[in-house]
Amino acid sequence: MLDLTPRKEDLDPIEIASRDEIGALQLKRMKWSLAHAYENVPFYRNAFDKAGVHPDDLKSLSDLKSFPFTMKTDLRDNYPFGMFAVPREKISRIHASSGTTGKPTVVGYTKNDIDVWADMVARSMRASGTRPGDVVHIAYGYGLFTGGLGAHYGAERLGCTVVPVSGGMTSRQITLIEDFRASTIMVTPSYVLSILDEYRAQGLDPRESPLQVGIFGAEPWTNAMRLEIEAAFDMHAVDIYGLSEVMGPGVANECVETKDGLHVWEDHFYPEIINPETGEPVADGEMGELVFTSLSKEAFPIIRYRTRDLTRLLPGTARSMRRMEKITGRTDDMIILRGVNVFPTQIEEQLLEVEGLAPHFQIELATKGRMDTLTVHVEVLEDSGSEDHRAAAAADLAKRVKGSVGISIAVSIRDPGDVARSQGKAVRIIDNREKG
Ligand code: DLL
Repeated sequence: MLDLTPRKEDLDPIEIASRDEIGALQLKRMKWSLAHAYENVPFYRNAFDKAGVHPDDLKSLSDLKSFPFTMKTDLRDNYPFGMFAVPREKISRIHASSGTTGKPTVVGYTKNDIDVWADMVARSMRASGTRPGDVVHIAYGYGLFTGGLGAHYGAERLGCTVVPVSGGMTSRQITLIEDFRASTIMVTPSYVLSILDEYRAQGLDPRESPLQVGIFGAEPWTNAMRLEIEAAFDMHAVDIYGLSEVMGPGVANECVETKDGLHVWEDHFYPEIINPETGEPVADGEMGELVFTSLSKEAFPIIRYRTRDLTRLLPGTARSMRRMEKITGRTDDMIILRGVNVFPTQIEEQLLEVEGLAPHFQIELATKGRMDTLTVHVEVLEDSGSEDHRAAAAADLAKRVKGSVGISIAVSIRDPGDVARSQGKAVRIIDNREKG
């Protein structure tokens, strides 16, 4: 793989500023953001008043802990535009979550917000090794989902040639990557695996593809998966994180030269980690739930938003800004099986160690008698499908999961193409447990 480390002089100065400079900027912006939310969003005014705090009480960054959290339900309760801090006419774009579990969560952006977002995605792409002039293939979905348009504006801002393909029509994705000579692809890690399959199905060697950088996010994926994808395509695989409530993609990104967790763009987003049970902040280095406060957003300021994503904060390496470790999972995706907590990423890590299995998998939960059971559905690779091999692979995976996670699972080895694919975020868990 090529060395794609960006030049120091191309970085935004704040990326490598001193911690004191970053802290001073954060404090100034945090004061503005709290006051802006308090003065313009009745929800925040009520919440702050109820908690007995006022934006003027914030004298240092650590004072943020006395301000109340914002939850997803608060956004739903204020559907559709109740959380906006500017008149509707000043909103130049709306995005929304899919709303599979109720009303969608609606977010809005001013012209300025879109501008900052483009800057943050451009910064993320530069950190990933993408350069001005590169051809960028965007296979994140376009639409209300923030992935497609977020990536699009960032790639334009960086000065790239943008190919706005969106998800789906997998064989055409390959034609376009090959014919347009895309060097960067932006897509979910699960969908790039489908693209990989399609390369092989067409008899093409993915290592010969023009791709040099993949910028993958919108769902959890492991370092083991990174190695798998990097080896398959002979390209860098870099992690991008974000969520619509905080902006969209580009809240944090890995640096291609280190790939050691995602630098949070702390000049615009202030991260905290809390104990999800008590709500108390924990020290850097400790695991917990990630919480964000926006520092510059005009249309949709967000104060202490509980993301439900689990990670920990680490000191900066390639940049001065702190890193968040690759996300283990969401509190919502945590499976509690016979008292043991399990995340799909833990299964993914083990599965990639087993010879002859494809990286596509789904987890099925069911009830048998009084017991909950977990079955991993996973495919064999095309050329290693003998019965003996299947049985050995199933036993190997079950043993590895028992050894590392401590639970007994069943493994169902499926034929190539049998496990459901997604063109966006993968559905990892099918819950058929009896609700009691
Ligand atoms: O998924 C924004 C995005 C688009 C990020 C494209 C990266 C690339 P939402 O649909 O609002 O926004 O979903 C946000 O997705 O709270 C995480 O649970 C998960 N997520 C996003 N990025 C990552 C990542 C977009 N790199 C939710 N690793 C977040 C793990 C991620 N989970």
